Amino acid sequence: MHTVAKHSLFSPLTIRGVTLRNRIVMSPMCQYSSHEGLANDWHLVHLGSRAVGGVALAMVEASAVLREGRITPSDMGIWGDEHIVPLSKIAAFIESQGAVPGIQLAHAGRKASRGAPWHGPKTLHTPEEGGWPVVGPSDVPFDETFPLPAALDHRGIDRVVDAWEAATKRALKAGFKLIEIHAAHGYLLHQFHSPISNKRTDEYGGNLGNRIRLTLRVAERVRGAIPGDMPLFVRISSTDWAEGGWDIADAVELAKRLSKLGIDLIDCSSGGTVPKPNVTMTPGYMVPFARRIRAESAIKTGAVGLITEPRQAEQILAAGDADLIFLGRELLREPYWAIKAQAVLGEHVHWPTQYGYVLRPPKV
Ligand code: FNR
Repeated sequence: MHTVAKHSLFSPLTIRGVTLRNRIVMSPMCQYSSHEGLANDWHLVHLGSRAVGGVALAMVEASAVLREGRITPSDMGIWGDEHIVPLSKIAAFIESQGAVPGIQLAHAGRKASRGAPWHGPKTLHTPEEGGWPVVGPSDVPFDETFPLPAALDHRGIDRVVDAWEAATKRALKAGFKLIEIHAAHGYLLHQFHSPISNKRTDEYGGNLGNRIRLTLRVAERVRGAIPGDMPLFVRISSTDWAEGGWDIADAVELAKRLSKLGIDLIDCSSGGTVPKPNVTMTPGYMVPFARRIRAESAIKTGAVGLITEPRQAEQILAAGDADLIFLGRELLREPYWAIKAQAVLGEHVHWPTQYGYVLRPPKV
C-alpha cells in the first residue's frame, strides 16, 4: 500500500533515474571478512538485513579498486572480474527488498597493509605477515607505526584513475545502481587533498586546485563510465580537524567543482588524516558541514556521524541541512531502525510482507 509520508525522513528522493524510498542510507562499513576481495554470505546478510529493515540505500563497504588499495588483506575488493558474480548476488537481493544497491569504491593509499582492527590495529610490514608495499602522494607515513608509502609517479597516478574506471564498469555489471567514490578518512584521494599528507611539488601538489586534481580526474572518469541516469556520490572529509590541514572552506570548493562534473551528492564526513584529531564527537557533530556545503555549493548532501534518533534525523532534513541521512553504528545495533523510525514518527509502518501480517501493530 502506498501512503504519502508525513515526515521528510520518509519522503522519497529521486536522483537522476533512481528513486530512494526514504532518506535513510546504510553507511558503508568495512567488514574485514573477505578472502582475496570476494564478497560472501556474511556481506549478503549484513547488507541484506538492512535492506529488509527498510533503508532506502544500502552501500557496500569500501571496495578496493586495486589489490594494494585494500586497508587489510580481508577487505572487499573490486579489482578483478572474479569479484563481479559474488557482488551481483548482494546487489540483486538488496534491490528485491525495495532498496537501492550502492557500492563505495576505494583505495587506502598510505593507510593500506594493516591487520584487521579486532586483532589490535597493526601494520603488516612483511609479505610473510601478509603485508605489501603501499603508495601515497608523498613518502610521508600516517604515523611512525604505519608503513612508509612510495610517492606515486605519473604512471602510478594514471593507473589509479584507470582502476577506478575499471572498477566502476565491474560495479555496473554486478548490478549496482549507485556508486560512491571514497575520498575521505585519510585514504588515497583524501591524502592528496590534505597538505599534511601531500608534499608534492608537481601538478598534484601545492595549491588547492592541484591537490584535488586526482579526485576530479577520478570523478570525471567514473561519471563518464556510468549511464546518465545513474547517481554518483563522493564521500569527503570536510576537515582534517588539524592545524595546517584540509578544512571546510577547501571542502566547499571541492564540492563546487565536483558538482560541475556531474556529482550528485557529497557525503559529508570528516577526519582520518592525523592520528589525534582535535575534535569532540557529539550527536550530529558533522551536520554543520553538510549544511554549509549544501548551502554554498548547490549540491545535495548526506549527513553522517552520531545520528541515532528518528527525531534527530527528521530535524536535520526538515532544517534543510542535508538530503540524506547516513547511519553507521546505529544500524549495526538495530537493522530494523528504519521500520522502528516509522512507528516512532507515526508513519505507516512497512514491515516486509513475510513479517508484517503477524507483527502489526508494531511494538516500539
Ligand atoms: C565505518 N566507516 C566507513 N566509512 C566509509 O566511508 N567506508 C567504510 O568502508 C567504512 N567502514 C566502517 C566500518 C565500521 C565497522 C564502522 C563503524 C564505520 C564509517 C561509517 O560509514 C560512518 O561514517 C561512521 O561510523 C559514522 O557514522 P555513525 O556510526 O556515527 O552513524
